[in-house]
Amino acid sequence: MSKFWSPFVNDLVPYVPGEQPKLTKLVKLNTNENPYGPSPKAIDAMRAAVSDELRLYPDPNSDVLKQAVARYYGVDANRVFLGNGSDEVLAHAYNAFFRQEKPLLFPDISYSFYPVYCGLYGVDYEAVPLDEQFQIRVEDYARPNGGIIFPNPNAPTGCLLALDAVEQILKNSPDSVVIVDEAYIDFGGETAISLVERYPNLLVTQTLSKSRSLAGLRVGLAVGHPDLIEALERVKNSFNSYPLDRMAIVGAAAAFDDREYFERTCQRVIASREALVEQLEGKGFEVLPSAANFIFARHPQHDAAGLAAKVREQGVIVRHFKQTRIAQFLRITIGTPEQNQALVEALGDLSS
Ligand SMILES: Cc1ncc(COP(=O)(O)O)c(C=O)c1O
Repeated sequence: MSKFWSPFVNDLVPYVPGEQPKLTKLVKLNTNENPYGPSPKAIDAMRAAVSDELRLYPDPNSDVLKQAVARYYGVDANRVFLGNGSDEVLAHAYNAFFRQEKPLLFPDISYSFYPVYCGLYGVDYEAVPLDEQFQIRVEDYARPNGGIIFPNPNAPTGCLLALDAVEQILKNSPDSVVIVDEAYIDFGGETAISLVERYPNLLVTQTLSKSRSLAGLRVGLAVGHPDLIEALERVKNSFNSYPLDRMAIVGAAAAFDDREYFERTCQRVIASREALVEQLEGKGFEVLPSAANFIFARHPQHDAAGLAAKVREQGVIVRHFKQTRIAQFLRITIGTPEQNQALVEALGDLSS
């Protein structure tokens, strides 16, 4: 606390990101990064952008990237919004849509940034419990609200909500904005972008941090009705006109254009996920069904915090959340087959 702070800063509870250790030898399965690296074409495009032109500001509208996203999804570029990571896109969306009289709804077990933005923007919220199987119950969201947000697949559970269920949520709340946060959709789900034309209250957000392996570049996007996009542009241009730098614009556009690399690496992650699930189940873990690049697993006989500490001693980091309902789960990012094997070995014999 300081006498210089704006009073509201005293009450902020900031997001705590997963550990980014300085030691390079660790097997890092804690922050849902992609083990395969970005498209070589994206790297080439970024290298070419490191030039004398950096003395010039980038395009404030990032049109080259908007067009690449629009092409990829077959939508008009005026339905696309871009930001410095989907975290920034989400922050602007909270500011633009969720500062309402009625509370925002999101699942009780979900992305831990959601309540943080509520604190920042003074948004009242209700955390809606997932059911016993850790699934979203559509009917629980059919009540008065000032907006709805949920990840699909959900984080940190990895569970996917089918597209018709997403559509039902949109139908039940036609007067509020529903954000479907698709950070992990490319690892086994079907995007709700196909619904954007029919539902003016739908905003779909995505990131290049996971399936396109560009977490270090910080690029996120939203697709929605042009009226929603206009609100986001207003907020963005009242905050920072240049959220994407010259490297980010061309690198992200090249990553979208390189479908072949994207599809191949996503398939590798999915195949490794299925193999790891099988191995962990063989060790007695219960693993929630995952459509993401991570899994959420608990062992009936072993304490999750203890297991996290055990594998860490052997150089493998996974994520453990201290939250009540999920305190016995570990969230494990899918690595390369070798990294996954290192985890399996570090877990050792769990039969006793
Ligand atoms: C559900 C969810 N949404 C959004 C993000 C933010 O991703 P980024 O800001 O890297 O685009 C994450 C990151 O882990 C996430 O898990």
